[in-house]
This record gives sequence, C-alpha cells and structure tokens, in this order.
Amino acid sequence: MVSRVIPVDPFDLVIFGGTGDLARRKILPGLFRRFCSGQMSSESKIIGAARGVHTAEEFSKIVASAIHEFGSSDAIDESVLAEFLTRLDYVAVDARGDTGWTELAGKIRKNLVNAFYFSVGPSLFGDLAERLKRFEMADDDSRIVVEKPFGRDLATAKALNASLAKHFDETQIYRIDHYLGKETVQNLMAVRFGNMLFEPLWNSQYIDHIQITVAETVGVGGRGEYYDRSGAMRDMVQNHLMQLLCLIAMEPPAKFEPDAVRDEKLKVIRALEPVLPHHIVRGQYGPSEDDDDFRTHVEDSSSKTESFIAMKMAISNWRWAGTPFYLRTGKRLKARTSEITVVFKDAPHSIFGADAGRHNNELRIRLQPNEGMTLDVTIKEPGPGGMRLVDVPLDMAFADALGDNAIDAPDAYERLIMDVIRGNQTLFMRGDEVEAAWAWTDPIIEGWQARGEIPKTYDSGSEGPTDAMAMIARDGRIWREIKR
Ligand code: BG6
Repeated sequence: MVSRVIPVDPFDLVIFGGTGDLARRKILPGLFRRFCSGQMSSESKIIGAARGVHTAEEFSKIVASAIHEFGSSDAIDESVLAEFLTRLDYVAVDARGDTGWTELAGKIRKNLVNAFYFSVGPSLFGDLAERLKRFEMADDDSRIVVEKPFGRDLATAKALNASLAKHFDETQIYRIDHYLGKETVQNLMAVRFGNMLFEPLWNSQYIDHIQITVAETVGVGGRGEYYDRSGAMRDMVQNHLMQLLCLIAMEPPAKFEPDAVRDEKLKVIRALEPVLPHHIVRGQYGPSEDDDDFRTHVEDSSSKTESFIAMKMAISNWRWAGTPFYLRTGKRLKARTSEITVVFKDAPHSIFGADAGRHNNELRIRLQPNEGMTLDVTIKEPGPGGMRLVDVPLDMAFADALGDNAIDAPDAYERLIMDVIRGNQTLFMRGDEVEAAWAWTDPIIEGWQARGEIPKTYDSGSEGPTDAMAMIARDGRIWREIKR
C-alpha cells in the first residue's frame, strides 16, 4: 500500500502564540513533517506572531530547536530543515494594542490561502479576530483556527462564539479538538460505516453496553494552575470523550461532509440524559513513590478538582435507549491507553445447555497505543469433553495489517492543519456542537459543586478509585482492565 500525499495549495499561516508551548511542541514540528512529505510547498510561509520581540532569524532558531526537541524520532535532514526555516517569518504584535499589526498585514499575500492560528488563551480570541478585520488582513476566504478550552461553561462558550461571529462566518472558524485528528478516531467512522458487518447490530437490541476509557499515566505536570480550574470533566470529557461518544453513537451521515457529520454528532449530544449524582465518581490521585500528589501539583492543599472521572451515561433515542455508555478518564493511572469496548449481548438462547456457560462477543477498538481492533468470538474448545465453549480474540494491530503506512500516518495536528488549508471542516467542532456539549456538562458540575463533593483519593498507578469499580458492578458489569 502506498500512502498518498496530496499537496495542499500554497498558504500563508500566521501563528499567534508562535513561540508558545503548543506551537513549539505540536504545530511547528507538525508543519515541518508536512513540508518533508511534500504536502506543504516551498511557496508557503509561516509567520510567528507573539508579544516578544524577535528577529526572523531568532524565531528560526527557536523553531529549529523545537523541531529537534519535539519533532519526529527519525533523523532530521538538516538541508530540508534549512529550507523549511527559509519559509518562516516573525512579527511582534500586541493582541490588545495596535503594535505590529500593520507590519503583519504587509506580509500576508492575498492571492494565497490565508489562515490564522489562535494558539493563545481564549480571552484573546475576540481581540485577535477584531484586529484581523480592522487591519484588513482577513477576508471572506480566510480561516481562523481556535484551540480548546473553548469556554469553561455554556455562557463563556456562547460569548466566545459571539465574539468570533462578529468578524467571521461559521464556515471560516476551525475549532480544534485534536482527538478528531487522530487516525484511529477517524477509523471509528470507517469501521462503522465502511462495513456491513457491524451497523445492523449497532443498537440497544444487540449491544449490552459500551465503555470508553482514556487513561493517562502522566499527572498534571506543569499545568497545575490551568488544570485546577478545569478538572477532568472540562479538560477531557466535555470535548475529547464527548467526540468519541458521538462517533460511536451517531446515525450514519448521508455523506462524509462537514455539516452532515456535525449535524449527526449534535443530535447525539442533544439526546444525552442528565447524569444522576450516583452515576458519577470523581477521583484525585494520591502521591506515588517518587512524585507528589494532585494537591501539591495544583498548589492548593484543599483542591476539590478531579483528576479522574467515571460516569454512566444514557442516550435517549430509538437506537440507544436501554444501552448504557460508561466513560472514564484520568491522570496518573496504571497505563496510557485509550480504547472503546462494545459489549454485545449474550445469545438469546444457548443450544449447548447450561454447562457451556454464557458467552458474548466484544469488540475493542484501541485508539492508542498499539492501535488496532479485537473481536472476541466464541468457538468450541478443541478436544474431547463435550461441547465446551471458549472466547478467542480475532486480533488485528493496524501496524501489522498496514505496515509502515500505519506508523507513518500524520499526527493529529498535522492532519488538522492540512484540513484547514484545504478548507475542510469535517473534523472540527461547530459552534452549536460546543454549546450543546457545555449545556449538558454545566448542570453536572453545578450539581457536585452545590453538594460540596470531594473527589475520592486513588493511588497513583492504579485504575482509579474503587468507587468507580463499584458503580459499574452495581449494574452487574465490570470495567475492562487498564493495561497496555
Ligand atoms: C489535552 C488535555 O487536550 O489532551 C490534556 O488538555 C491531555 O490534559 C491530552 O493530557 C491528552 O491527549 P493525548 O493525545 O495525549 O491523548
């Protein structure tokens, strides 16, 4: 199989926050990889814009060191890197003042695709949008890219949407959720809608329940201040896990096109039931042998923020009524693993008698690491001894099945930035989708705040608080073990 790299049109991309953490870790190394692959042409230009005063040469050095630190694990071809660096420029701008804007406007070539990446805090989104228009840098074809967190509740998300809508049409706004850029997340749609096999069974008649787990081994690291204001609910559930849930639960869109896909996702979010308090378990990690606990990391010894959350969700529509969705995510857990498990119901009647036991099929989609799919199938245990049944996995690692193409796939940010240049919004969140997700999230957070709930402590390196096990056990079910 040969991977197909389709070059995008030449572009000028301005990165506000061009020297910041996200730009250095993800955006710039990602663009370099797209340049190496031939997808970004040497006619294109990347302009860093931030408050700090740097020359273009100084910015080039910052970018080169970021690429060496965070770029691909393959050896870097220094001559290609040198060529890439000639495509960079830098302007110091004041997001809240007028400094630098005229100079920046002079550098944008109107005959190319123009995109503006807001890799800055959301409090600056409105100011940047206003100045892009006032200094006549952006026109009706320009695109703006905004990062999460997109608000911290429905009111702030609405205000952000409104401040962007004053200057840009919805078709020009690209709200990033990097989970949508992951190869295996897109694979959820391919598996569901590219095969006849699964879709007829994809409903509450055949599916007992679905589990979505996104487990991380890292703690909150240097992001304590941000994280203490967010917690796992705002940081992961409202966006990344919600997107996974939507892709698993949505109706087949008529086409793989932006509004067709996003309309279906929106319907899922709007069909979500409020979550009952006893269907939620929040946790906070305790200390590990060589590291501090959550409260030390966020510098608040009485923090009530959760670093783990597990919940049981219900979707009120014809397809899913009666099939619960169990979601969990957390930091400092036993392993870094993200997977979706679809647990099918037992066969309605066993012709093999009670001794054969009860068996059901399970489809597991591993999003990261070791991306792949496993389907547990029931077969006869070999040998004499009667009709004894056993469940065996049909196991496929994408790397084995697809070779280098699976390993070499662009990372989420690379894919999404190329989609911005192509003008394809399918893998970006629409404004109403984000608002609907907050409308579901807000009462849940308000509920535990009003009750003054304190998260349960769990051991670093564990599978989360024991209450999370108890929650699913009450329904006669168990979580999949968190393991690599
Ligand atoms: C980010 C969250 O959006 O996603 C982080 O803010 C989290 O807290 C990260 O660690 C997880 O992303 P990934 O791609 O490593 O699964």
